[in-house]
Amino acid sequence: MIRKKVTVVGAGFVGASTAMALAQQNLTDVVLTDIIEGMPQGKALDIREAGPLIGSDAEVIGTNNYVDTQGSDIVVITAGLPRKPGMSRDDLLNTNAKIVGGVTDEIFKHSPDAIFINVTNPLDAMAQIIFSKTKLPRSRVMGMAGCLDSTRMRTFISMELGISVENIHAFVLGGHGDTMVPLPRYATVSGVPITELMSEEQINRISDRTRKGGGEIVKLLGTGSAFYAPAASVCEMVEAILLDKKKILPCCVHLEGEYGVDGLFVGVPVILGAGGMEKVWELNLTDSEQAELKASADAVQELVDILGI
Ligand code: APR
Repeated sequence: MIRKKVTVVGAGFVGASTAMALAQQNLTDVVLTDIIEGMPQGKALDIREAGPLIGSDAEVIGTNNYVDTQGSDIVVITAGLPRKPGMSRDDLLNTNAKIVGGVTDEIFKHSPDAIFINVTNPLDAMAQIIFSKTKLPRSRVMGMAGCLDSTRMRTFISMELGISVENIHAFVLGGHGDTMVPLPRYATVSGVPITELMSEEQINRISDRTRKGGGEIVKLLGTGSAFYAPAASVCEMVEAILLDKKKILPCCVHLEGEYGVDGLFVGVPVILGAGGMEKVWELNLTDSEQAELKASADAVQELVDILGI
């Protein structure tokens, strides 16, 4: 098998956790890059030294030089500020837009054939920046959010029912913000919708906790935002792409008419495979679900309008 190469830009909490999780998957070599000198090199070496214990031959290197990212198959962008208590993801808009814009210019020069996965918040608007700067086909630019929001919902369902996470599926659509749209009708336990297993009160409580899931962690940490579940979510997407799994995962992608949204990055279920986002998976939505999704898309559009892209 030809070795694959995944670059993770930003070696902070999310980036370093992602690099470690990718090394554990043992599917690809990893390049970890950051503007802080020595830090990505140190973290990469630390991860590499875990290799014999975790059974991973992945080459993990750290660098401050984009030349080392040359020819990446996938680029994961985590560079930028995380939010602090009291901040919304949208408060990061202008600062992170500059960082993500700059990173995209550099990385794209060296890996024009890569698939891009954005993690930096506000996630949907940052994906739009990458898309508009690179002018890549929409199949190759996406954001990681739906996997994270859905894994949070799956966890809360598992906690509520005392049933294995392995039996639980869930879809959370929309932008990665307070307006995201958990879909209880499509959340299932071994194929049975949770609407048949839980009261309205339980479902509303779980949906609400899902919407505020990131904020709950920010409040507890006090100094930054979540990183373990975000890293695991990136790995899920990377694995689906590298193994050409054709897996249905909720991801932030450029909609072109699907779900009544045109020309905007919003989270919806898609089929992920070697080609990246191979198809938008269209679910039937009720009028109220569709209205919630529209409101969420409108919130993303507001940010994109501020950026003028
Ligand atoms: N190029 C490369 N790295 C950069 C750049 C840049 N231009 N600007 C900042 N960075 C690096 C920082 O040096 C830091 O190491 O990005 C890293 C961000 O790490 P943290 O501050 O630990 O933030 P983290 O928790 O990893 O979150 C990163 O992911 O989930 C989102 O909202 C979160 O936008 C935030 C991003």
